[in-house]
Parts: sequence; C-alpha cells; structure tokens
Amino acid sequence: MIAALNRVRTTTLALSTAAFIVLSAAALAQEAARPSLDVPYVPTPPEIVDRMLDMAAVKAGDYVIDLGCGDGRIAIAAAKRGARALGVDIDPARIQDANDNAKQAGMTGKVGFRQQNLFETEIEEASVITMYLLTSINLKLRPRLLDLKPGTRVVSHAFDLGEWRPDETAQIGFRHAYLWIVPAKADGRWKVQTANETFELALEQSFQQLSGQGYFGGKAVAAYGKLRGNDIEVKLVDGLTLRGRIEGDRIQATQDANWQASRIR
Ligand SMILES: C[S@@+](CC[C@H](N)C(=O)[O-])C[C@H]1O[C@@H](n2cnc3c(N)ncnc32)[C@H](O)[C@@H]1O
Repeated sequence: MIAALNRVRTTTLALSTAAFIVLSAAALAQEAARPSLDVPYVPTPPEIVDRMLDMAAVKAGDYVIDLGCGDGRIAIAAAKRGARALGVDIDPARIQDANDNAKQAGMTGKVGFRQQNLFETEIEEASVITMYLLTSINLKLRPRLLDLKPGTRVVSHAFDLGEWRPDETAQIGFRHAYLWIVPAKADGRWKVQTANETFELALEQSFQQLSGQGYFGGKAVAAYGKLRGNDIEVKLVDGLTLRGRIEGDRIQATQDANWQASRIR
C-alpha cells in the first residue's frame, strides 16, 4: 500500500514537473516572440484625436499614416472623415485590436493596419502623419519627415520635434497637440525680378524659418522670412515684401504681385 502510494506520488511529481517545464518553455517562447517597443501603449483620448485631425484639416483625398497606431483609433477616425488611412504597429496584439475596432466601426476595407516597425514604414506617399510617440523617437524620424512632400502635415500628441518649432499648438486641458507643415526647400541663391529691378537673394533655411540678404548692386540688405509648405514670404528690411509659391527651382508671386524668382545654380 505504502509502495503504491509512493509510486503515485512519484508519478504525480514527475507529471507536474514536466507540465511546469512545458508551460515555462511556452511562456518563455511567448516572451521571446513579444516585440520590443520603442514606446509603450497609451491611447490618445478621443477629443485629442478629433483635435489632431482638425489641426491637420484631414479630409477626403488625404492619405493619413499613424505611426504606432495602438488600437487604431486615429486611423479609424481619419477614415471616417473620408481619408485613406493606414496604421502601423510593431505589436501584433495592437493590430488585432485595431482590426477588431475597424470591424466594429464598420470601417473594414476603408482603413488598413499593418504589423510593422515604424522606422521601416514607407511614409513618402502620406499627406498627413500622426504620432503619439516620444520626443526621442520623433527626433529620429525628423529627417524623414522634413523630406516629405512640402505641405505634408505632421501632427503629434504631447511630444514635439525639438528645434523644428510647430506651426500650430493646441492645448486641450493639460494636454498638447502640435502641427507642423513640411516646408519646401528654399535655401540657396535666387535671382529675383520685380517690375523695377533684378537682384540676388541669398537665403539660409532653418526648418520653416528663413534669413539672408538681398544684393542690390554693391549694397546688401538683410532679409528674413518663413515658409508654410510651398508658400514663402520674405521681407527685406528696406520695406520690400515678397510673397509667393515655390515650385521646384522657381518662385511665382501670389496676390497679383509682379515678381518672380529662379534658383541660381
Ligand atoms: C503611445 S501609443 C499610441 C497609440 C495610438 N497612436 C494613439 O495615439 O492612441 C504608441 C504605440 O506605438 C507602438 N510602437 C512602439 N514601438 C514601435 C515601433 N518601433 N514600431 C511601430 N510601433 C511601435 C506601441 O505598440 C504603441 O501601440
């Protein structure tokens, strides 16, 4: 009887040890398969989502990419405004949630979700980028954001882009949302022709801010200005203001003004 009990006890112990090993191995494998996150999952409250999309003026015809999409709420809200929308997240559990939420919202087929590292995501076709990441991650993305098509809108919840100052800031309670408009590239030398004169304009660009000089014969006149996408405004301190639109290597005047400029190579 005692020997039989000992046999049962030994078998039970062996079985539970084996089960423990199998379960531990499964848990370890699951842990190893979990992607490492650059930013933890924290959802953006709905009122901030709406404000971000308002700031970016999201509408039909836009292509919105949410980098680190979590449960998909920003991309789904963008799709509800008629935009094409894509959310990417490195965590498969978030992509599962996002697809479930899209289904629940009746937006399947109108919004896409992809399990992908945001640093490996192609963003060149986007007209709007949305983010709720961290400033350190935003700064890593900044060179790519600055290379997007001029006029592309970038909106971020809570975290900024360092020295690239936002074009617009909104405060909602204790939270902030930021908007940047990707500026065209205006630095370099331009030949400016107005109705009265032709002069050279040398511009230096720091994000959307411009500074430089206009050269009128031997006289240099300080200039400063700003960009909003392709729209450029330059003021020369002697009083001349130039407003126009950059199209590659040319600037065409806006507001019926009579001037134009071409880039000097
Ligand atoms: C703060 S949450 C923002 C979620 C959503 N965009 C929102 O505002 O509600 C950040 C998300 O980024 C994801 N994430 C972290 N590192 C990532 C990476 N390298 N590539 C893609 N997604 C990442 C996380 O899984 C998380 O869902």
